[in-house]
Amino acid sequence: MSTDAIVLLKEDHKEMRRLFRAFQAAEDGPASERRKIVGQILEALTVHTYLENEVMYPEVRKLLPDLEDDILESYEEHHVADLLCAELVAMDAEDAHFNAKTTVLIENVEHHVEEEEQEWFPKVREALGRKQLQEIGERMIALRPDAPRSPTDPKAIKKAVDAVTA
Ligand SMILES: [Fe+2]
Ligand SMILES: [Fe+2]
Repeated sequence: MSTDAIVLLKEDHKEMRRLFRAFQAAEDGPASERRKIVGQILEALTVHTYLENEVMYPEVRKLLPDLEDDILESYEEHHVADLLCAELVAMDAEDAHFNAKTTVLIENVEHHVEEEEQEWFPKVREALGRKQLQEIGERMIALRPDAPRSPTDPKAIKKAVDAVTA
């Protein structure tokens, strides 16, 4: 298994896209099924955002000052997704707003992931050595078991606020 940070983050992105497609396929289906898939989406996003905010982003910001603007924009995009996740976690799947809110979350995250994968991850790969990317990946693997899994976990909330204020 690769420990390269970018490979690991892209694997997460792939899993998110799979869950997004699953939601789209279930959009007109039973509330219980939509609730279940959205629960999986919220968990995947909470873990992934935490690892990026705690390890990948600060590391890139420190090592590659030229990418500062991309990192700051990415933190804000996480923040927008966090707000939608916090609303969705408490929302009944029968609620008239449930599908619309999930769709906007998906659109936002897809745009964000696209920017990571197309715009600044390639610059990170070019600038950092293979060894440095493996070290960053190893730190994310080590942190993953302790990552919050729900948007309502106080640790997730605190770190999310730190990310757009620090
Ligand atoms: Fe991200
Ligand atoms: Fe990401």
